[in-house]
Amino acid sequence: MAFRFDLDASLLKPVQVGDTLAANRIFMAPLTRSRAQRDATPSELAARYYAQRAAAGIIVSEATAVSADANGAYLNTPGIYTDRHQDAWRAVADAVHAARGRMFLQLWHVGRMGHPDISGRVPVAPSAVAADLAARTPEGPKPLPVPRALRTPEIATIVDDFRRAARRAIDAGMDGVEIHSANGYLLHQFLSDVANRRTDHYGGSAANRARLTAEVVEAVVDEVGGGRVGLRISPGNTAGGMSEIDEVGAYEALLNRIAPLGIAYLHLSIAPTDPTFGVIRALWPDTLVLNALGVAETDFCALESFAEWGAVSAVAVGRAFLANPDLIDRLILGADLNEPDPATFYASGPAGYVDYPTLADIPSRAVAN
Ligand SMILES: Cc1cc2nc3c(=O)[nH]c(=O)nc-3n(C[C@H](O)[C@H](O)[C@H](O)COP(=O)(O)O)c2cc1C
Repeated sequence: MAFRFDLDASLLKPVQVGDTLAANRIFMAPLTRSRAQRDATPSELAARYYAQRAAAGIIVSEATAVSADANGAYLNTPGIYTDRHQDAWRAVADAVHAARGRMFLQLWHVGRMGHPDISGRVPVAPSAVAADLAARTPEGPKPLPVPRALRTPEIATIVDDFRRAARRAIDAGMDGVEIHSANGYLLHQFLSDVANRRTDHYGGSAANRARLTAEVVEAVVDEVGGGRVGLRISPGNTAGGMSEIDEVGAYEALLNRIAPLGIAYLHLSIAPTDPTFGVIRALWPDTLVLNALGVAETDFCALESFAEWGAVSAVAVGRAFLANPDLIDRLILGADLNEPDPATFYASGPAGYVDYPTLADIPSRAVAN
């Protein structure tokens, strides 16, 4: 039988997240949908797609490149580094707000996950260490190349790209930005003691490996204010060919350094059974959003219990929101959920993007007794 929330469920209660009051504690996790235009302007359908999901407490956008160099892990992913990008994101923010939603834009640099056949550029990374992974290029899967190690003075430019992208996101009307330091992309690569073999002050010790993410958070907070900044991390996550021997050290250094900045939230993508979850929770007593890996995406009973115990402030769910624009209504009514269709996750066009049915489209059939 479908899961049904009590109306006094913890996850249905509003929560103050930095400057944003979220109407509930079920956030939409960031989901790349590969439907952007050739110049990295978000899809013309993006406003509709996100507005359909405005009942999420906060929507976190798909990963969005902070510069042309930052893009290129997948085809047709958006950016926020030109006026045209900014105008298109404004249309998205306006549509979400008109539907009474709240939205943060996820800011991204792909680092060694980029492929020249996609970006037209040689990817950059902390060190010349390739991810053991294939990119989906226009000609099919190809191994990721060995990236070029960033020179120390270039790193300040990357920090500045995040700062300027955050300014554009806020100027476009977004409620905040989420800095993507997870899932094997550039900032995560710096945190890792495997991908990062640097000998300057961005590599080696835990504090050094944490330095780039910390500098990005500091710059973005300085630009738009801590109440509008979230940070996503995924310690130990092997997504994107990532590996870390020391799973905790760099995160401890990072969280200790940024704690005084008063950011809106920490977004942790991890299995709740992973001992690192407890370690991070102890290090971060402030607002914590959990994207619970390994919990079936439909197990809202488990997610509710984390909120009830106070282990998390909110949860972020990905595929369940992708397939159920009216997820919150369905959880309140105890309705069955649509199944996500992986074949259209990264396809083009409206199918599997803006055409998942709501309960209004399929009346009376799916509601529990
Ligand atoms: C289609 C798809 C696209 C994703 N894109 C992103 C992304 O752009 N940024 C990110 O941080 N995580 C991304 N993820 C990871 C999700 O945010 C989330 O961690 C993952 O789907 C597990 O949560 P779930 O079980 O609720 O779906 C993506 C996942 C999927 C399935």
